[in-house]
This record gives sequence, structure tokens and C-alpha cells, in this order.
Amino acid sequence: MADIGLVGLGTMGAALALNIAERGYDIAVHNRTVEKIGQFVDSAGELASRLTAAETPEALVASLSAPRSVILMVPAGAAVDATIDQLIPLLDKGDTLVDAGNADFNDTRRREAALAERGLNFIGMGVSGGEDGARHGPSIMVGGPEKSYAAIREIVEAIAADYQGSPCAAWLGPDGAGHFVKTVHNGIEYADMQMIAEVYGLLRDGEGKTPAETAPLFERWNEGKLRSYLIEITAEVLRAQDKTSGGPLLDVIRDSAGQKGTGRWTVIEALKLGQSASAIESAVAARSWSSMGEARAAGESRFGAAEKGTLSLDDGELEQALLAARIIAYGQGLALLQSASEHFDWSLDLGRVAEIWRAGCIIRSDLLDDISQAAREGLPHGLLTLAPAFADRMETAVPALRRVVLEGLRAGLPMPAMSSALAWFDTMRQSRGSADLIQGQRDFFGRHGFERTDNGLSDQHGPWAD
Ligand code: 6PG
Repeated sequence: MADIGLVGLGTMGAALALNIAERGYDIAVHNRTVEKIGQFVDSAGELASRLTAAETPEALVASLSAPRSVILMVPAGAAVDATIDQLIPLLDKGDTLVDAGNADFNDTRRREAALAERGLNFIGMGVSGGEDGARHGPSIMVGGPEKSYAAIREIVEAIAADYQGSPCAAWLGPDGAGHFVKTVHNGIEYADMQMIAEVYGLLRDGEGKTPAETAPLFERWNEGKLRSYLIEITAEVLRAQDKTSGGPLLDVIRDSAGQKGTGRWTVIEALKLGQSASAIESAVAARSWSSMGEARAAGESRFGAAEKGTLSLDDGELEQALLAARIIAYGQGLALLQSASEHFDWSLDLGRVAEIWRAGCIIRSDLLDDISQAAREGLPHGLLTLAPAFADRMETAVPALRRVVLEGLRAGLPMPAMSSALAWFDTMRQSRGSADLIQGQRDFFGRHGFERTDNGLSDQHGPWAD
């Protein structure tokens, strides 16, 4: 009998199944397009002996040892519900379904509650690291009933990335907590990617450098404080040559960024919680704007593009600017997690979250070691930027961010994520902002009332009320 089952042999599902088999577990696999199952098993080499090809959901369930656990790796949304509906009648009380895709955590909460009514366990499990991570060690963010994690914990920890001897996998909280954390992980991923792209834009359009000319800079940064997976792969992407044109590959890639929804979900949930992860919002917006190629071309013919090659930026300053912006993006993500944790009563351990992001996932970076430590010590007012180790860094890095943003804006180059990160930072170091005027306006046109600073009385009105 197989130790675990898996439905969905797309890129991520197939990689995860091979990872599980390689760690010594027997796994039964099923896929809606049945031909794919045989092809997958045939191509698995020596791991094939650990794989059971199940051509129907019934065969899959019948091949599992009880209590059964089945991982679903199917596209988010209707396909997950359809797969669950197929499996429910075949399962017994105490069996566990694990959704390992990028689900909207609201769906996970709904599914967990519905399955609990039938005595079935439902785990929402965020898996990060792309295909390579899934195959050789992803970061795994688990949510759902804590007791049901026991059923899959051994396998999950065995397949997860290893960070200095400890697995990058953890049960983080009930119902949708795991998928929420994964969603915010992706939101941070969007912000980080956008900020890196903005720096690339400054170097390419502001300084007139070719992609290959900028690659050494990213390689150097990857030896320093910015060391991270995304900086590392950026250097590789910048260096890649196109076989057809013989020129830089980047020069033939359309500048229209795809998005499957996790960044947008992060922003939606932040707004629902009365929060704003502005760097993430800007990154999502920038992807949307990137898809409006024809409108951008029309804008360029009407207003003209920024003049190229007018900037000369200091490499060290760019590095510091990116570091400051990155810290702000991580901090906004953590603040959002904290807010959701309080709202949904999850008791999320932010230190643990940062720990399991240190290896395997897309946003893994050297910073996360310090972030986990800062989170363990408690973030003053919930802000990473106020944690002593980070406040010191921000003192040095923010002036660089300001100069880089100023230079970029002066040259007319868009920097939505970096400039909004700076605006957030400046807002959060201003004890008296300008919202007094907004309160005055609100009271003027709608008698919404304001609080007085001199006597603390609320629901006060201006003279216009008379
Ligand atoms: C990860 C990635 C992964 C996937 C995203 C990309 O953590 O492994 O985030 O989940 O690459 O879905 O999302 P977009 O298509 O929205 O960029």
C-alpha cells in the first residue's frame, strides 16, 4: 500500500511526487488526463518502483494505507473543488486531503469547514520554490487542524528544504493560515521582483547599460547584504544570450508580466484588513500596467519617453537603496501577517514563518535570518523597520533609497514599488501627518466628526456645522 496519494501531475505535482518517492515513501499518483500518468511513471527511472499509477480516483484511494492522505496539486479554484467532490465519497472519517496549490485562503477556510463536517481533515499547504524546489526541497507552509498535520508531518519534513539541519516546513495555524502565509510570501515576491526590475530599468534606460553589463553588479550584490535567490537568478537572466538573434535574451522578451493572482490576493486581503502593503500593491499595479503595451506605446508617441542615458548612479548606493526597499516590503508583509493573525485568531509565529522562508522558497535571502530573530524578539509597533537591528540599517540605507528614487524620478523613469516604499517609510516617521485636513474635510461635507488633540474629545465638529 502507498504511504500517500497525489492528484495532479502538472509541473509542480510531478516534481513533488518524485521528491516524495526519492525520500523513500511509496506514492500513488493520479491525473485527470490519464495518459499523463503512465508517461510520468515511465519517465521516473529508478523511482518508478515507489510510484503506483492510479488511473481512477477509486484506484488511487484503494491503493492508500489508512488513514489516507491525498495531496492535491491542481489549478486553484474550480478544479480543486471538483477534485475534492470526486474524492469525498471514496474517503473514510479521519482521512486527510491536502491542497498544496496556491489557493485563495478564503476557499481553504470554506473547504476545511465543509470537510470537517464530514469527519475529514483538510490541510491548506503553501509550497514555494518553483519546480526545482518542489523536486529537491521546497519551503512548506502548513495550515489546518493541528492534529491532522501529524498524519503528513513526517513526509512533509522529509521533502522540505533543509536550513542548517532543520526542515523549512511548519504547521503555522488553523484553517487558511498556511495558504495565507504563502499568499503573502508571493506578495513579497512580487514586490522584490518589481524593485529589482526597477533597478534594472535605471541601469538600462538611465545609464544606457546592456543587460550583460549589469549582470556583474547583481553578481557582486549577491555576495553582500542583498544575497538572495532572486538576485542570483537575476544575474543569470541578465547574462542569457538569445540563440536566434545572438543578442541579449531580455531584449526579445515582451515587457508584459504575467500574474496568476497571488499578488492581487495579497493586496485584496490587506485592504480588507484595513492595512496597506503599498510596495506589494505597486508591484501588482506595475504588472497590470506592463500588460497595456499598446496604450504605453501611444503614451510614448504623445508625451515622449524619458531621455535615455542621462543617469550616473553609484553602485553602492543602488545596493543600499534596493536593500532599504526590500526591508520595507518584507516588513509590510509581516505586518499584514500579524494583522491577519489577530483577525482570524491564528496566533501566527512570525519568527517561525521567517525561519521556514530561509531556504527552499523564492524569497529566500540572507536577510531572513535577521528577520526571524527580530520577529522573535518582538517587532516594536509591529514594524520590522523599528526593530533595533533593522532601524540601524535603515538609517544608512534610506538616504540612498531617497537619492536613487529622486534621480530616477528626475529622469522620468517609473519606480512605483521603490517610491511607494519610500513614501511609506516617510509616513511612518512623521508623528504628525496631514490627515487632520482630511478629517476637517470629512466633517465639513458629511459631519463625520473628528477627535481633538487638546482635550481628547471625539465626535467634535467645526464651525461649519453651525
Ligand atoms: C513560489 C512561486 C510560485 C509561482 C507563482 C508565480 O513560491 O514557488 O511563488 O507559487 O511561481 O505562482 O506567480 P505569478 O504567476 O503570479 O507570477
